[in-house]
Amino acid sequence: MSDVTERLRHLRIPAMQAPMFLISGPEMVINACDAGVVGCFPAPNARTVETLDQWMADIKSANCANEKAAPWAVNLIVHPTYPRRDAELELVLKHKPPIVVTALGSPKHVVEQVHSYGGIVLADVVSPRFARKAVASGADGLILICVGAGGHTGYLSPFAFISEVRQWWDGLLVLGGGIGTGSAIHATQTMGADIAYLGTRFIPTAESLCQSEYKQMVADSHADDIVTSDAITGVKANWMRQSLVNGGYDPDDMPSQGSIDFASNGSDNKRWKDIWAAGQGVGASQSVSDVATIVRELESEYLASIERMPDLKNAILRG
Ligand SMILES: Cc1cc2nc3c(=O)[nH]c(=O)nc-3n(C[C@H](O)[C@H](O)[C@H](O)COP(=O)(O)O)c2cc1C
Repeated sequence: MSDVTERLRHLRIPAMQAPMFLISGPEMVINACDAGVVGCFPAPNARTVETLDQWMADIKSANCANEKAAPWAVNLIVHPTYPRRDAELELVLKHKPPIVVTALGSPKHVVEQVHSYGGIVLADVVSPRFARKAVASGADGLILICVGAGGHTGYLSPFAFISEVRQWWDGLLVLGGGIGTGSAIHATQTMGADIAYLGTRFIPTAESLCQSEYKQMVADSHADDIVTSDAITGVKANWMRQSLVNGGYDPDDMPSQGSIDFASNGSDNKRWKDIWAAGQGVGASQSVSDVATIVRELESEYLASIERMPDLKNAILRG
């Protein structure tokens, strides 16, 4: 087992702050790691390669300065058409993030390089078929994205997805989609995953890079307000109903599939800036807060959930 995988077994709570386009930057990552959960940001959030270099240097130095901090992660787009792919990989080799999360393509392109400095690669997948491919490409762990996830979503039930993958994979398993409470984090473990992946829960925070209206809309929204559509980015994603209305769409009559564009950040940037993504777990946030406070809340809910377990067992034993 690698050092990083071993460190992941000793997080304050088994959770990871998931990477979010236009939302997660260095402050969110540093504060998440200091609070005891893995922090992650998508490399394209840094507008230039020079900014990305600076962000990674800042995160690394803050992370090294706190020996209790959880390991940090960067999320790379590994699709061959993505123009900054090679430049970002060079910075990965320079700053050596303990964890690299790959999305939108095979992790094959980065595995050898990340292993060369002792890092691990976690591949974000939406089906058992992609999970098998990622493992065959050398991924050290899988992130199963399930139905209800914010942003580009999955479509499988976590119950079905985890149990099927666990038939042939006993390595690191991270689960994402609609997880917003400590009891849901505990549930991911009882289902057979190791770590929960939370995105939406961290949008309404001081550290989030988005505008305050976006944060407030997350705090005000509920599961009923989440609309799944492939009209905006060409890929099925979850969006907040009110932001679709504000953007001139009819959430109950969305247009057909939009064009997919992984190659340039520019147009994607605009689509994600105007229409605001969030997952079905949105109801877990009722106010704008900060990362450390949320991790403390998640921890107390997680521990309370574990403490309820003996009662359940005793009830069964008593028959
Ligand atoms: C606003 C937003 C932006 C996202 N951007 C990215 C991204 O750039 N890269 C990525 O791999 N996943 C991205 N995701 C997906 C998250 O990493 C994660 O899979 C998801 O948030 C988990 O589901 P949850 O939001 O229900 O917690 C995004 C999610 C949201 C809500």
